[in-house]
Amino acid sequence: MLALLYWVLFSLVGNAEFIEDDKRALLDFVTKFRHFHALNWKESSPVCSNWTGVTCNADKSRVIGVRLPAVGFSGEIPVNTISRISALRILSLRSNRISGNFPADFTNLKNLSMLYLQFNDFSGPLPTDFSAWKNLTVINLSNNQFSGSIPSSLSRLSQLSVLNLANNSLSGAIPDLGLPNLEQLDLSNNDLTGVVPKTLQRFPSSAFVGNHISFVNSSTSQSALSPLPQMSLKRPKYWWRDAWFFGVLISCGVLGLGAFAFLFFVCCCWRRKDEDDDGFNGKFPKGSMPPKKRISGDQDANNRIVFFEGCNYAFDLEDLLRASAEVLGKGTFGMSYKAILEDANVVVVKRLKEVSAGKRDFEQQMNLIGSIRHENLVALRAYYYSKDEKLMVNDYCSEGSVSAMLHCLRGEDRIPLDWEKRLKIAVGAARGITHIHSVNGGKFVHGNIRSSNIFLNLQQYGCVSDFGLAAVMSPLAPPISRAAGYRAPEVNDTRKATQASDVYSFGVFLLELLTGKSPVHATGGDELVHLVRWVHSVVREEWTAEVFDLELLKYSHVEEEMVEMLQIALACVARIPDQRPKMPDLLKMIEDVRHAFAEIQPSGSQ
Ligand SMILES: *[C@@H]1O[C@H](CO)[C@@H](O)[C@H](O)[C@H]1NC(C)=O
Ligand SMILES: *[C@@H]1O[C@H](CO)[C@@H](O)[C@H](O)[C@H]1NC(C)=O
Ligand SMILES: *[C@@H]1O[C@H](CO)[C@@H](O)[C@H](O)[C@H]1NC(C)=O
Ligand SMILES: *[C@@H]1O[C@H](CO)[C@@H](O)[C@H](O)[C@H]1NC(C)=O
Ligand SMILES: *[C@@H]1O[C@H](CO)[C@@H](O)[C@H](O)[C@H]1NC(C)=O
Ligand SMILES: *[C@@H]1O[C@H](CO)[C@@H](O)[C@H](O)[C@H]1NC(C)=O
Repeated sequence: MLALLYWVLFSLVGNAEFIEDDKRALLDFVTKFRHFHALNWKESSPVCSNWTGVTCNADKSRVIGVRLPAVGFSGEIPVNTISRISALRILSLRSNRISGNFPADFTNLKNLSMLYLQFNDFSGPLPTDFSAWKNLTVINLSNNQFSGSIPSSLSRLSQLSVLNLANNSLSGAIPDLGLPNLEQLDLSNNDLTGVVPKTLQRFPSSAFVGNHISFVNSSTSQSALSPLPQMSLKRPKYWWRDAWFFGVLISCGVLGLGAFAFLFFVCCCWRRKDEDDDGFNGKFPKGSMPPKKRISGDQDANNRIVFFEGCNYAFDLEDLLRASAEVLGKGTFGMSYKAILEDANVVVVKRLKEVSAGKRDFEQQMNLIGSIRHENLVALRAYYYSKDEKLMVNDYCSEGSVSAMLHCLRGEDRIPLDWEKRLKIAVGAARGITHIHSVNGGKFVHGNIRSSNIFLNLQQYGCVSDFGLAAVMSPLAPPISRAAGYRAPEVNDTRKATQASDVYSFGVFLLELLTGKSPVHATGGDELVHLVRWVHSVVREEWTAEVFDLELLKYSHVEEEMVEMLQIALACVARIPDQRPKMPDLLKMIEDVRHAFAEIQPSGSQ
């Protein structure tokens, strides 16, 4: 007992010492370093809660982030100040007028993960030995006057995902860095010579322009077209294929085209707004996140952004609000934004409207949702709750929703969604929903299954989002949501959705995949037709083939599989809830449609 008390006391005192040291180091830093804008760093106020730009770890025992962009620092960074904050992970001093060499004592910052020093006046060589910073993931030293060669020791930074050295005066050859995890590289506008090493040829030529380099036996365009290794959610693969398809890529920048394709796709969705009130149909203004002052008023200790385990995004609410954001669309429960964080991570922020649950219930539900990890479910990474603002932070899926794929890019320019792809979407979504139904002692319900909530994972299988939300939101008004066509006939209050009603909605989704038609669609006249009713009427008159999406009829050898899937979908949309199959059985039926899927078992939850 006494030992325990000692231990507690000791660790308290120990922690207090660390944070006091960090505070001292920061005070030394600003008092010795000339700057124009006053900082509110007062010795009397707590460093972890009141100091602008300072972030601490969870127990407030260490400073782990210092972000002081555009504070007007000029001159050299005073030695032995900021480098004393040994637990520092994020350091941003971008857009100041800091001069001098790369600070030698930064080697003490062994845990440094993100370093932003772009837009300063640093000069001299880069550190020769980068091996001190094993955890570096982002290095942005662009727009300085660094000279000398690119150190080959960078190749030891196995975690590195962003390296930006553009607009400096670096010379010599580009070392063969390897760096399999590198996702962004920019070496443009230096004085580099020689050839682009093989391992870096996967990056677009824009990463190397403004140097004196050549691509070995491959024209720049070929190199831009070489497949991206380690495709990740952050990279818009779809656009690439798009570009390839058009065959115009050679002359245009990849990004430019990607943006064009995306704009086109967004415009198209926008026009169809009336038919589908969900998904990626918003317009596309370059905007900012919800106004800052709304939130800062009550951002006290109780209203912190809450992260879930396995979240390797390092950001706080401020970052989120500062991030450049695009409106993705208006979903069932509020606006969605795509936010690009300072470290180049992309997340989706949902601003929930009309949360009906109280704080405790909301948090409980979020914690449940956040604990669910599965390869066919879009992970919730963090949430934020205050009186005025409720935010959810999810992974971002670059290819857009299945709704957009099915209904947006129609016509000649569209990449057809063939049966193979649709099968994989159905199998993946079924696996995800089956997992949801097994959570919380088998009582968990999705509550809002629809094609605009289904995306693709990296293996191109369906990946389900927005689960468990309906339970904490105000009930959706019947006229609006019934029109959306997914709601089971027995459901009156959207908060009281059941697993059986999930199966109904999933059945509607399967019909949508098979027919290519929206759950509620217009036929010739003004009349709106409910997809389920329409399919029943067509099938009853034995025109089964007429049911299917014209696009699918091209693939005649798979008609049997399609008919089988149609039967499964019709079983799901049975009027009587008890007659609908249960998710695990349903999954098995869907996997059995094509034998191959039954054999590849999902690797399960992560
Ligand atoms: C810290 O900031 C809060 C709100 O901004 C303020 O109320 C409080 O007095 C500050 N604490 C100190 C010690 O300055
Ligand atoms: C670096 O980070 C790790 C893991 O978060 C931590 O255990 C360690 O104490 C940190 N190192 C320093 C010097 O703070
Ligand atoms: C840094 O890397 C080491 C080893 O890879 C790891 O144990 C540690 O947790 C990392 N620290 C941070 C802050 O990520
Ligand atoms: C480098 O400088 C040029 C010209 O000032 C600018 O257009 C470009 O965006 C800069 N590159 C980076 C990565 O900042
Ligand atoms: C190597 O590539 C360059 C540029 O594309 C080309 O001119 C040259 O003929 C190629 N050399 C060989 C041996 O293929
Ligand atoms: C690095 O800095 C440049 C500006 O020079 C900016 O365009 C780029 O987005 C930054 N990269 C990251 C990952 O923050």
